[in-house]
Parts: sequence; structure tokens; C-alpha cells
Amino acid sequence: MSERVMEASPTKITVPWVAEAPLRQDRLVMATAYDFSQARQVEAAGVDIVLVGDSLAMVVLGHDDTLSVTVDEMLHHVKAVRRGLQRALLVADMPFGSFHGRPEDAVREAIRFVKEGGAQAVKIEGRRPELIRAIGAAEIPVMAHLGLTPQSVHRLGGFKVQGRGDEAARELVAAARDIEAAGAFSLVLECVPAALAAEVTAAVNIPTIGIGAGPACNGQVLVYHDLLGIEERIAPRFVRRYAELGLLGRQAIAAWAADVRSGAFPSTEESYADPSRSDLVDRLYG
Ligand code: KIV
Repeated sequence: MSERVMEASPTKITVPWVAEAPLRQDRLVMATAYDFSQARQVEAAGVDIVLVGDSLAMVVLGHDDTLSVTVDEMLHHVKAVRRGLQRALLVADMPFGSFHGRPEDAVREAIRFVKEGGAQAVKIEGRRPELIRAIGAAEIPVMAHLGLTPQSVHRLGGFKVQGRGDEAARELVAAARDIEAAGAFSLVLECVPAALAAEVTAAVNIPTIGIGAGPACNGQVLVYHDLLGIEERIAPRFVRRYAELGLLGRQAIAAWAADVRSGAFPSTEESYADPSRSDLVDRLYG
């Protein structure tokens, strides 16, 4: 990594700028987005990194876990998000099955996210230094993801806090060092005790980005639907809702439905007139 500390707020977020966040001692802000309008919204709000997470499977596609989403489905959304971004760094999550076989197949899928989707980096779950090296050798920066890795839900026996106890904690620190040495430019830490996340953050030079990992990480990430209160079925402890858009949306739609049923929508102002004819709207409302 360069000794030079880059500018605090560049016009375009790059991988090296993200990687140097610990040197600048500023906190990275990452949010997920899954379509064009969400991408525009999170970018306009000043988010540094936009992740098209495989959480897509749950919050957008309605599955119970992230396992079933495919590369083609992810790509569809990565492309839409790409069209909504100018400044933020776009990271595509590699879904379950896309990097669990032969490394050359994983590299090919990673290339699709860059070439077809316009992603600037990919994220992969788990301690996979060889894969990080292989994808890196194809010029694709890798964001790693340790702790609770939702693609391992069956092995872990559920969505549970990871890294509790001395041995598990030692293993996580070692895994973080391992993925850093393999060339990952950043590391998502999900659902680990805050003290352990602080230990990992101190142990590596790349930025840690926490979700349910306490305040010591170099950045934080939340899922769009959680942050805005759109996903109301599950509320993990680490989610802080900054709005209740699920409720607001329901109220707005219910108000519109009531207006449709009462005839209050649409009004004359919301309808077109044809001044050259004795107008039906004038007869109806006039
Ligand atoms: O899929 C996702 O949204 C993620 C974030 C929670 C980090 O992996």
C-alpha cells in the first residue's frame, strides 16, 4: 500500500482509497442496493461503497436464506445498480456456488461481474486465500467476509454470532491475517463480538467493515431494507432503523386505494383535457 494518504473525499471512490481508510482514520460507509433508484439514493446520501449483496435473495426475492440466488440473478441487479452510480465504489457479492468449485470457474464468474455488470470489486465469503489470489491475479479486487458468513448457514446451524471463546477468536484473527496476506483490500466482519472485531481491526492493515461487529471497525455496512425499515420480518440486534419506510409505504398505498375507491383519485388536475372537444372530464367534474 502506498505511503501517501489519499484525499479525504475523492470525486470517485476507488479501491486504493478504500484500502487506505485506516491510514486516514476515517470511517467507511457501505450500504447495499439492488436497483437503479436505490443506487441513486444511497449515492446521493454520500455512501462510499455500494454492495449488491446476495442478501438480494432474502430482502428482494423473498427466500429464507441467501443460498439459491444465482450469478445471472445477481448480475441483473448489479447492472441496474451500475447505471445508478457515478461516485461510489460498486462491489458485487459472489453468490453461493459461484466460487465453491474449481478456482478457474470462480475467476470466470468474478470476471462476469466486472465485465458484464460493471462492478469494481467482488466480495467472497469465508477464509479462501487461494481464491483471493486467483481472482486478484485476474486484476479483480476482492473484499473478504468473515465471522457469520450466511452462505455457511447449514454448517453453522443458523444465523449465529461467531468468534465467541478463545479458540474461535484466535481462528478469526488468523483468518483475517490470512486473507490480508492473500491480497484482499477490505474485510467485512459480520456478527462477531465487538472486542474481537477491535482485535481483528488492530491486527490487519486493511479496513474492516462491520455489521453486528461493534464500533471499532473502520467502517459499517447495513442492508438497505433494514436501514430504512422496509424489511420488517426479522430485526437482528445490530440493525438500527433510520426510517419506517415499510409502514410509510403501506400507509401511502392504503390512502391511494381509498381515494380510488371513493373516486377522489384522479382529480381534474391529474387528468388530461382536450380543449378542442366538449370535454368528458369537464362534463364529469365540471
Ligand atoms: O449480502 C449482503 O448484503 C452482505 C452484507 C450484509 C455485508 O453480505
